[in-house]
Parts: sequence; C-alpha cells; structure tokens
Amino acid sequence: MRQVVWNGERLGLRDVTETDVHGLHAIYGDPTVTQHMPFAPRTLDEVAALVDEAVAAAFTEPRLLYVMAVIDIERRGLIGVARLHIEADHPHSAEIGFGLLPDMWGRGIGTDLVRLLLSFGFKELGLHRIWGARSPANLPAQLAMLTAGMVEEGRIRHHVHTPHGWRDSIVHSALEDEWTER
Ligand SMILES: CC(C)(COP(=O)(O)OP(=O)(O)OC[C@H]1O[C@@H](n2cnc3c(N)ncnc32)[C@H](O)[C@@H]1OP(=O)(O)O)[C@@H](O)C(=O)NCCC(=O)NCCS
Repeated sequence: MRQVVWNGERLGLRDVTETDVHGLHAIYGDPTVTQHMPFAPRTLDEVAALVDEAVAAAFTEPRLLYVMAVIDIERRGLIGVARLHIEADHPHSAEIGFGLLPDMWGRGIGTDLVRLLLSFGFKELGLHRIWGARSPANLPAQLAMLTAGMVEEGRIRHHVHTPHGWRDSIVHSALEDEWTER
C-alpha cells in the first residue's frame, strides 16, 4: 500500500481512515457543500460506507483511487476532503474532486488545495494530465481551478444526473509539462 502524506505550506493531504467519518460527514452531509455536487447531502452511514470503500481502495494494486483528508497543518485538524481517481484505461490521467468545510471558504484555501492536488498528482504519482469537472454555476470552484492553473477545456452536456435532473459539467485540466513551466 502506498500511504499518502503530502504537505504544502498550510495544507496537508493524508489517506482517510475510519476515524474521519464524522469529519467527512460535516462536509458531505452539508447541503451548502453539496449544492453543486451531483448528489444529495450524504447520511452518516453513507459517509461511513464511502470511507470503507476508500480504505479498501488504498490497498488495491495498481492503486487508482485516493480519498484524502485535507489537514490544516497549523491546527492539525481536518478541514476538507480531496479525491483523485486515476482512469483505468488512461493511467496517465486522473480526475480530481474537492470540498472544504463552509467556514473555511473564501480565504484562498480552495485554490491552495487545487495546487496541492496538482503537485501530488504530477510529482508524487507521475501523472501527465489532471482534470476536474464542475457545475457551470460553481464560481468558487471555477476560480480556484483557474487560479491554480487548470484551464477550461469545454462543456460536457448532461454529464451527471443530480437530484434535480441532468446537469452539464465544465471541464478544467492541467498538463504536467505546462505545470512544470509555471
Ligand atoms: C470550491 C471550494 C473548494 C473553493 O474553496 P475556497 O476556499 O472558498 O476557494 P478560494 O478562497 O481559494 O476562492 C477561489 C476563488 O473563488 C472566489 N470565491 C470564493 N467564494 C466565493 C463566492 N461565494 N462567490 C463568489 N466568488 C467566490 C474567491 O474570491 C477566489 O477568487 P480569486 O481567485 O479571484 O480571488 C469551496 O467553495 C467548496 O468546498 N465548495 C463545495 C464543494 C465544491 O463545490 N467543490 C468543487 C467541486 S468541482
């Protein structure tokens, strides 16, 4: 198993564990966090099942799924969750997803988190392409990804089915060679 410990200046990433269920539920169970996500707020049991799946995925070889706690290094607490999923048929490429506790928003942490995920994917995992799909209405996610260097690639129509119906996604990506040059 490849254990994740990846630190930036104020944020760190580490594998989630069973002890994170309540911390993750404060994120995935909050309707303000899930408003742009393709699912309804998760119950505690659903989050516990997600954590079980994530822990099991950490032991698979090759490892394709990384579900990571986002840690405030100074306060040593969990403030967010990040997900990186390597495509089985395109192992040079991975999709990222991320979310923070709402009281952390608007202070540049989301942008730092995207930067940290890119450095983890390119430097630690040796990926070539990292992409993320957001709701067209998700302005903070758009700005965080753009500022971190993920360019907008275009729109996938009816990409996801949400509790409110079909939703398009806007795709952002970063490439390893462009990212190294920045
Ligand atoms: C997306 C998310 C991680 C951004 O986190 P954040 O810490 O607020 O992001 P930042 O503080 O780095 O802000 C990023 C940009 O959005 C802007 N912004 C933040 N909140 C905003 C708001 N409510 N309205 C308008 N702009 C906003 C910031 O000013 C900043 O813009 P700038 O780069 O021009 O200064 C956070 O909003 C979140 O967890 N959302 C719920 C989950 C989610 O939608 N995840 C993304 C899935 S693709």
